[in-house]
Amino acid sequence: MKEATRKLATDIFVFAVSNVAFYFAFKTIMKSMDPNRQKRLDAKKQSDDKLEKLGVKGTLLNLTEYEEQIATELILPAQINVDFNSIGGLDPIISSLQESVIAPLCYPELFAGASGRNGLLGAPKGVLLFGPPGTGKTMLAKALAKESGATFINMHVSTLTNKWFGESNKLVAALFSLAHKLQPSIIFIDEIDSFLRERATGDHEVTSMMKAEFMTLWDGLTSSSDRIMVLGATNRPNDIDSAILRRMPKRYAVRLPDPSQRRKILEIMLADTRLDPRFDYDEVVRRTEGYSGSDLKEACRNAAMQPVREYMRSAEGRKQISSNSRRGSSDSPVASSPPTPTKSFQTRPISNRDFFVSDTATAATTLKPARLIGEDPLD
Ligand SMILES: Nc1ncnc2c1ncn2[C@@H]1O[C@H](COP(=O)(O)OP(=O)(O)OP(=O)(O)O)[C@@H](O)[C@H]1O
Ligand SMILES: [Mg+2]
Repeated sequence: MKEATRKLATDIFVFAVSNVAFYFAFKTIMKSMDPNRQKRLDAKKQSDDKLEKLGVKGTLLNLTEYEEQIATELILPAQINVDFNSIGGLDPIISSLQESVIAPLCYPELFAGASGRNGLLGAPKGVLLFGPPGTGKTMLAKALAKESGATFINMHVSTLTNKWFGESNKLVAALFSLAHKLQPSIIFIDEIDSFLRERATGDHEVTSMMKAEFMTLWDGLTSSSDRIMVLGATNRPNDIDSAILRRMPKRYAVRLPDPSQRRKILEIMLADTRLDPRFDYDEVVRRTEGYSGSDLKEACRNAAMQPVREYMRSAEGRKQISSNSRRGSSDSPVASSPPTPTKSFQTRPISNRDFFVSDTATAATTLKPARLIGEDPLD
C-alpha cells in the first residue's frame, strides 16, 4: 500500500515537472519564433536609453511593451540644434506660444489662482501651426522641443500603424498613457493632414478605428490635471477633419515672410558668413518677394557657393586643390605621423551680385518664387 502511494506520488511529481518543463520549452521556442522579438528588444533598449538621458528611470514608470515602442519617438533637447534664436521673423508667434501654451502647460500653478475652478486659463489641448510650405512650422516645433521644458514626442504616423488588427489602437492608447506618465508633454504630429484627414467612407477599417481612438483619448484630456497637448503642423489645413480642427482651438498662421521678416531671416542665415563691406540687405530683401524661409535658405546657399565655384575654376584654385589632394593621397596608411592639415582656401566675401547670378546647372532653383498658396483658409 505504502509502495503504491510512493509510486503514485513519484508519478505525479514526474508528470508535474515534465509539464512545467514542456511549458517553459514551448514558451522559449514561441518567443524565439516571434518575428517582432528583435524589434521589441531594440525598442526597449532605445526607450530605456532615451528615458535615462531625460533623467527618468524607465523601470519606475513600469512601461508596457507598447509604451516602449512609443518612447522611441521621444526627442531629447540635446539632439536638436534649433532654438528660438535661429528662427527669423516669427517673434509674435513664439511669444504667444510661450505665454498661452507653454507656460500654462509647464507652470499650471501660475494660472490656477486667476482661472478659478473652470480652468479657463489652462493650456489648450490642441495647437495647430499652418501655412505655406517652407515657412518654418517644423522648425518652430523643433525649437519648442528644445526650449519648452516639456516632454516632446515626435509622433510618426508609421509608428502607430501596425499590420496586426487591434495593435494600432493599443499603440494610440500607449501614446496617451506614456504622455501622461511623462507629463507635461507635447505630442507633435507633423503633416497632421496625412494622419487626421477628412474621414471618408473608403477609409480602411484599421485607419478609421485608429482615428476614432485618437480622438476619444484626446477628448479625455479634459481634466485639468492632464498636462498634455497635441501640436500639429500642416500646409493643407483644409484637408483636416473638422472634428479634429475643433480639438485644436489655438491656431497660428505661419505666413510667407514680409520684407522685415525676410531681412531678419537673412541676417540669421548670413550671421557667420563673410560679407562684402558694400553688401546691401535691402536689395536682397526687395528682390526676394514671395520667398519662403526655405527658399531664402536655398538662395543664401547658392550665393555662398558662387565665390567657392569661382575659386575652384580659377587657375590658383585648381593648383591648390590638386596640391592638397596629392598631399592627401601620399599619406600611406602605415605612416605613423598625423596627416598634415590641408592649406585653407581663400575665397572672396559674398556680395549682392551672388544672389542674382545663376549657374546654368542651378538656374532652376535660383530666384524661384515660393510656391504661393491662396489666402490662409482658417482666418
Ligand atoms: N522663419 C525662418 N527662420 C529661419 N529659417 C527658416 C525660417 N523658415 C524656414 N526656414 C528654413 O527653411 C527650412 C525649412 O523649414 P520648415 O521645415 O520648418 O518648413 P515647414 O513650414 O515645416 O514646411 P512644410 O510645410 O513643407 O513642412 C528650415 O530648416 C530653415 O532652414
Ligand atoms: Mg514641415
